[in-house]
Amino acid sequence: MIYTVTLNPSVDYVIHIDKITAGVVNRTEKEELYFGGKGINVSLILAELGIESTALGFTAGFTGEAIENYLKTQGIQTDFIRLDNGFSRINVKIKSGEETEINGRGADISENKLNEFFSKIDTLSDGDTLVLSGSVPKSLPDNIYECILKRISNKNMRTFVDAEKNLLIDTLKYKPFLIKPNQAEIEDIFGKKLEKTTDILECAVQLKAMGAVSVLVSRAGDEAVFVDADGESHILRPCTGELKNSVGAGDSMLAGFIAGCQLSNDDYDYAFKLGLSAGSATAFSDGLAKKDDIFKLFNSFYS
Ligand SMILES: Nc1ncnc2c1ncn2[C@@H]1O[C@H](COP(=O)(O)OP(=O)(O)OP(=O)(O)O)[C@@H](O)[C@H]1O
Ligand SMILES: [Mg+2]
Repeated sequence: MIYTVTLNPSVDYVIHIDKITAGVVNRTEKEELYFGGKGINVSLILAELGIESTALGFTAGFTGEAIENYLKTQGIQTDFIRLDNGFSRINVKIKSGEETEINGRGADISENKLNEFFSKIDTLSDGDTLVLSGSVPKSLPDNIYECILKRISNKNMRTFVDAEKNLLIDTLKYKPFLIKPNQAEIEDIFGKKLEKTTDILECAVQLKAMGAVSVLVSRAGDEAVFVDADGESHILRPCTGELKNSVGAGDSMLAGFIAGCQLSNDDYDYAFKLGLSAGSATAFSDGLAKKDDIFKLFNSFYS
């Protein structure tokens, strides 16, 4: 089973409004609701591609219930720890020419609830896949990803980590199967601008030497760089099209890659291409990508 972890899931309330004025009543032209968080996005794209997964993490209140119900309607299994107080956060995204976001903090997670979560992690077994992605809520220790990987280090599991700087670096000693920094994240790790693809490749190779089994660097509309588990490097341009929304493109890429490994019995070149196609299909859609769009891009750019 593939398990995704979303520590701080959200309901994203997206409002479209011509002009927003402070201090008066504003009315929306259109509004949308999305259920998300990075791990959940990975589960949603996996489901689009026909791959089963179970979403783990923490939910609270009526928003938490809504998130779980939505995932079930999408054929995703859920096994969240339910928190007794508060509610899963609501992120408000205001689209009025420029974009303004107000992200909620989310419900606090007690030590008891964290231990319940760890007990759940302890039930994962050989052959399972675990995807850790996104930031860590303030009420949790910031070495949580490292703690999770430590707990499963005696098991033969594939792990994927998509996180920032120390959160990511601290997991390398547990040899994650794949890490997926984006351009800004890899520059942040190495503390310098990396403009050329060859510079990025050099840094990806270094991250592999530091413990990552493979390294996938996404760079939005620029060439992506991938050093696979066998040490082979792959460099490809993403698909071209009309950019609509890049939120979740990285999560879609990760899910496309995981699905690609499963569908091809670990043909890493295929997985990289399916990852790129899924990322771009989301970048070219209003919400997350649909299966047909992913395969259309795959067929026209990479086959
Ligand atoms: N403008 C774009 N044109 C084409 N493809 C894109 C574009 N933006 C993103 N993509 C696709 O999505 C992949 C991931 O994009 P990006 O590097 O922006 O991820 P990210 O910053 O991790 O995103 P997020 O964390 O918001 O999910 C790219 O490698 C590419 O395949
Ligand atoms: Mg990202």
